[in-house]
Amino acid sequence: PLISMRQLLDYAADHQFGMPAFNVNNMEQVHAIMQAADETDSPVIMQGSAGARAYAGETFLRHLILAALEAYPHIPIVMHQDHGTSPAVCLRSIQSGFSSVMMDGSLMTDGKTPSSYEYNVDVTRRVVEMAHAGGVSVEGELGCLGSLETGEAGEEDGIGAEGKLDMDQLLTDPEQAADFVKQTQVDALAIAIGTSHGAYKFTKKPTGEVLRIDRIKEIHQRIPNTHLVMHGSSSVPQEWLAIINNFGGDMGQTYGVPVEEIVEGIKHGVRKVNIDTDLRMASTGSIRRHLQENPSNFDPRKFLKEATQGMKEICKARYEAFGCSGHA
Ligand code: G3H
Ligand code: 13P
Ligand code: NA
Ligand code: ZN
Repeated sequence: PLISMRQLLDYAADHQFGMPAFNVNNMEQVHAIMQAADETDSPVIMQGSAGARAYAGETFLRHLILAALEAYPHIPIVMHQDHGTSPAVCLRSIQSGFSSVMMDGSLMTDGKTPSSYEYNVDVTRRVVEMAHAGGVSVEGELGCLGSLETGEAGEEDGIGAEGKLDMDQLLTDPEQAADFVKQTQVDALAIAIGTSHGAYKFTKKPTGEVLRIDRIKEIHQRIPNTHLVMHGSSSVPQEWLAIINNFGGDMGQTYGVPVEEIVEGIKHGVRKVNIDTDLRMASTGSIRRHLQENPSNFDPRKFLKEATQGMKEICKARYEAFGCSGHA
């Protein structure tokens, strides 16, 4: 069944687990996420970005998720719109049947310019009013994702601050978070703790200086009843990086958010963990390997099946590590 984010995260809080929220763009990703959920008995959050809507088309994207609901009627699924840049974008998703939307008011509608606090409160509160009237959940964001090593936001198709960010933008303030939740009534709050979107998050395995799990604890202490969301939370598996580079790819050395740090966050109020890059890497690595090992193959189903398998392994590992397996 289709359920709202609030329903799922309230249940996750009661049972002390976290949910991976996977970005989807194509059928293979949906297959991988659903097969893994079925095998581990996990609920599912699938989310579509503006980039995904531009790639697949909103109709195709939505129907891929609707197909998953039909094919797996026993699994609860949240259909979430990732990083809405305006109330209008969120309204369109609400009207088209999404059960949850993110109003990312931390940036202006260009998806690049950091906004004022007042602007963020205003747009987020407006989306909450509209969404809640129809039983749809809302995720807000306070603080700007970006690296505490470099002050750069990192890349994400269209979404991410341009130029250098300062420390007070890169780390969500617990007091301001409490005020934000009170004024907007959001169901879940994305916070900035040093992660960034894309593959290039950390130049070495992150220490507590650049990945501020301690800040999650402070925010959770201040607003214990708010579901926290970690964006930019791919772990950038070193084994997939090696496969990509061993089969003709050229990605630079880089590190993601270690799964054990996410698990620590989940102990302190993190309920939704956004993952896109890891599935992109598993897909690319699987396809590169298949094509190099099978140069005569020209049937895309053969390499896309490998991509599905590679992505599915990551999904299963996250469902298990975050504690949601057995909770479908
Ligand atoms: O929103 C987070 C995803 O990584 C989005 O990426 O806009 O390239 O689809 P995308
Ligand atoms: P990654 O780039 O770390 O996978 O983050 C995805 C994300 O936060 C989507 O909103
Ligand atoms: Na989101
Ligand atoms: Zn994000």
